[in-house]
Amino acid sequence: MRVRSYLQRSNGFTPFHVDHDDDMKRIEELLARKTARVGVVGLGYVGLPLAVEFAKAGFRVTGIDVDARKVNMINRGENYIQDVDSALLRELVAAKKLRATTDFRAARTFDAVSICVPTPLSKTGDPDISFMLAARDALLPHITPPLIFVLESTTYPGSTHELIVPKLEERGLKVGRDVCVAFSPERVDPGNPVYHTHNTPKVVGGVTPRCTKMACALYSTIIEKVVPVSSCAAAEMAKLLENTFRSINIGLVNELAIMCKYLDVDVWEVIHAAATKPFGFMPFYPGPGLGGHCIPIDPLYLSWKLKTLDYKARFIELADEINSSMPEHVITLIADALNARKKSINASKIMLLGVAYKKDIDDLRESPALDIYDNLKKRGARVTYHDPHIPTFVYQDRIVRSAALTRAALRAQDCVVILANHSAVDYRAVVRDAALIVDTRNATRGLRSKKIVKL
Ligand SMILES: NC(=O)c1ccc[n+]([C@@H]2O[C@H](COP(=O)([O-])OP(=O)(O)OC[C@H]3O[C@@H](n4cnc5c(N)ncnc54)[C@H](O)[C@@H]3O)[C@@H](O)[C@H]2O)c1
Repeated sequence: MRVRSYLQRSNGFTPFHVDHDDDMKRIEELLARKTARVGVVGLGYVGLPLAVEFAKAGFRVTGIDVDARKVNMINRGENYIQDVDSALLRELVAAKKLRATTDFRAARTFDAVSICVPTPLSKTGDPDISFMLAARDALLPHITPPLIFVLESTTYPGSTHELIVPKLEERGLKVGRDVCVAFSPERVDPGNPVYHTHNTPKVVGGVTPRCTKMACALYSTIIEKVVPVSSCAAAEMAKLLENTFRSINIGLVNELAIMCKYLDVDVWEVIHAAATKPFGFMPFYPGPGLGGHCIPIDPLYLSWKLKTLDYKARFIELADEINSSMPEHVITLIADALNARKKSINASKIMLLGVAYKKDIDDLRESPALDIYDNLKKRGARVTYHDPHIPTFVYQDRIVRSAALTRAALRAQDCVVILANHSAVDYRAVVRDAALIVDTRNATRGLRSKKIVKL
């Protein structure tokens, strides 16, 4: 049976074969034996851990990425994603279980492929699906049925049906027969010590019941719990609900933090007290603003889609407005705290502590620290930063380097602003040595000092 598949591949796609049931059954067998050839397109925070997971399970995995630097690193056995085990990656590459390429012709051999390319926003705040379309168009000429084709990139409900299915059909491929198409959102939580790709349940929604079944069969080989839903749109919407839920609840506690300032109440104490309720409450925490490529972006994919249908997603827009205003709120806190010491932002030495968008990760994308850094610079502050996970970043075409967190450096500051509460930082030493601390993460919880100003 396998021989036929090889022949079919080497001869190119022939739309006239008839044993479609056998074809998909064969893929199921290959999956069960871990001999299916798996492709992952886009080897970033989502794609590389997924590719490693498939390779670890025994599959021969090929990752395709347009970034030759990443491809070369993988082929040399070098890791660039914090959540991936470097020794394991090296081992899998050496064992020829994992390789990477920039050449989409590699897709000719795939039995299954997952697309994990970015879905950011455009400059005008609308969905930028250009990466998804580019990956689709580069793959299409090379895919060979039978194939399981899964989109993992977060996108608006209806995308899989609108963007993937028609193009496959234009190529004469029958979805649900030649190619099983599904949407299965990635839920990776970078830096999470407990939940990784294999133990985070995975939602799968196919174009047809057979598509769902095949995509579930694919992911069941590496993920402990697979959750089938009735359609691609239900899976797409489930992902957006998860991230909209976070965005709105963070928006709520961010506004609560602002209200607590007016009322002179400690917002952190309030949330910790409310969180003792054993039912009906889930704590979320305020901060300097949203970051990363999910929470600040994904809900806007949903509101954009609804706008095209003449519906205004009010909760999403309000949460976005509040969350986007948090960097400005932090600037006000810094200005007020300096002012109380007869100082101004202008000419003050200010150190940002933690510029990653959240605790214990090395991801700077959309980080509110970038806005705060820029704002303080423009107001004339002498800004430095320390982040154990981010040695450098680029600001106005210049490389900015993380400063050492020494006693002398802390003592030299007019203000230290905690933006990410990385575990590696000794906050007791920060409070001891710095003259003024603006703490946007409650990193100084339990430490009492008049020098601390909390969000
Ligand atoms: N990072 C997260 O925590 C997270 C969590 C859940 C879901 N997601 C979603 O997963 C998707 C991928 O996110 P990510 O964080 O892994 O992005 P990323 O930027 O880390 O990685 C994407 C990779 O795709 C590559 N790429 C871009 N265009 C390509 C193309 N046309 N062909 C092949 N490769 C291409 C890039 O070079 C990059 O290596 C996005 O839709 C994102 O919203 C991300």
